[in-house]
Amino acid sequence: MAPPKVGVTLATRSIYIFIVDPSLLKTDVCYVNGEWIKAKSGKTFQVNDPGTGDLVGNCPEFDAADTRAAISAAETAFASFRKTTGRERSKLLRKWYDLVIEHTEDLATIIAWENGKPVADARGEMAYAASFLEWFSEEAPRIYGDTIPSSIPGNRVVTLKEPVGVCALITPWNFPAAMITRKFGPALAAGCAVVCKAPGETPFSPLALAELAHRAGIPAGVVNVITALDNTPLVGETLVTDPAVRKISFTGSTNVGKLLMKQASGTLKKLSMELGGNAPFIVFDDADVDAAVAGAVASKFRGSGQTCVCANRIFVQKGIYDEFAHKFAAKVREFKVGNGFAEGVTHGPLIHGRAIAKVDSHVRDAEAKGAQIVVGGQKLPDLGENFFQPTVLTGMTSAMAMASEETFGPVAGLFAFETEEEVVRLANSTTVGLAGYFFSRDLQRVQRVAEHLEVGMVGVNTGLISDAAAPFGGVKESGFGREGSMYGVDEYMITKTVTYGNMALPLQK
Ligand code: SIN
Repeated sequence: MAPPKVGVTLATRSIYIFIVDPSLLKTDVCYVNGEWIKAKSGKTFQVNDPGTGDLVGNCPEFDAADTRAAISAAETAFASFRKTTGRERSKLLRKWYDLVIEHTEDLATIIAWENGKPVADARGEMAYAASFLEWFSEEAPRIYGDTIPSSIPGNRVVTLKEPVGVCALITPWNFPAAMITRKFGPALAAGCAVVCKAPGETPFSPLALAELAHRAGIPAGVVNVITALDNTPLVGETLVTDPAVRKISFTGSTNVGKLLMKQASGTLKKLSMELGGNAPFIVFDDADVDAAVAGAVASKFRGSGQTCVCANRIFVQKGIYDEFAHKFAAKVREFKVGNGFAEGVTHGPLIHGRAIAKVDSHVRDAEAKGAQIVVGGQKLPDLGENFFQPTVLTGMTSAMAMASEETFGPVAGLFAFETEEEVVRLANSTTVGLAGYFFSRDLQRVQRVAEHLEVGMVGVNTGLISDAAAPFGGVKESGFGREGSMYGVDEYMITKTVTYGNMALPLQK
């Protein structure tokens, strides 16, 4: 017989939430300088479950003064944390990782509750989130400088890798935990102290991770997590203009990224920008159609289409268009939409009403311009305000909004094409370039198309490219900088050159 479950059941208006360790759910407080504190004004904002609309909890509405206090705590902590060894930082990250694994089920519950994604997906996100802590715990002791042969006789040149300083990390709601660990992991491995502005929609996962960082023994002030909703622009501006902050890492929309970059220019901070995408997903006549259908389903509908790397334009070559469309639509019809905690649900609600409005406007625009709705196409008010049917559209053209704008929702539009040259031109005819995918079994085409796509990441014969080991980032207006991988730590370091003169001295007799 299984032992009885120990934990707490929280009743909301519509559902029950079971949490083994309720002290992970930090409401009304932020984590600053190793302490749980309220906003000085006492103001809070509400966080609501996107599935039911019920209250999850309240969070502090930080303002500029609260934010400056967090920056100051990080500045003080940085002075000593930068002196720790890579091995010491590795052990801290590993301890944090172990705690995250131990509490995965609770963390997944919090993600599913505040973000709406099905619990199974939230568990998947937690495995992904934990993998960044594991990865960077392994990178921390292996941060090397170089010995460089000088062009000046007698000189010796070495480089030192040093932590850049206090980092401001601004994270999105679509991966409430994984985008935290993908930034905190390398920052801490490098020896930086951080202030993270958690997303107003999903602050409780970042705060739960902060609680585990605390339990892991990460020194006070090294990790700070703050929240705001109405004050978000003010808090963002404070973070990116404060001279004590030396690095900004932002994941979010291209428009906000541009604004932050402009604001940060006054103090010339180091920047990483992981911004919007408009991913092409290309299926050539020579592809394995079943594998391409599976890849397109995974890429397009992960997180109900709310990821920056989701396929946004699915281009299918004319010879297999009908077969692909038929098989793809059949798979999408199998989805079950509903509350993320309900049995068998594969797709939850979208994050809020603005997301629903955008998705709906893209479908209506495509329909008005001649696309056919093969599956879905409607809101699902009986389930709640934020639900939309997984949708498949055929007969898409470049005149439709979906061709040039990121939908960020569960709508797949299929565009027909004839030649490789044509589809690569169409794929690249966008201002952004984050991910791109294609399916083909022609070896030379695989190499050719991978080289010609103007994106930071290419998936060949796969719809899933996310991996802590693989560099993540874009080109063009999708931003710059690479997260994860062996390159991730560099974003949080400076290279200091030390030149030793008069070193070619004769041996003493
Ligand atoms: C994102 O949507 O910003 C991240 C997606 C991923 O890491 O797979």
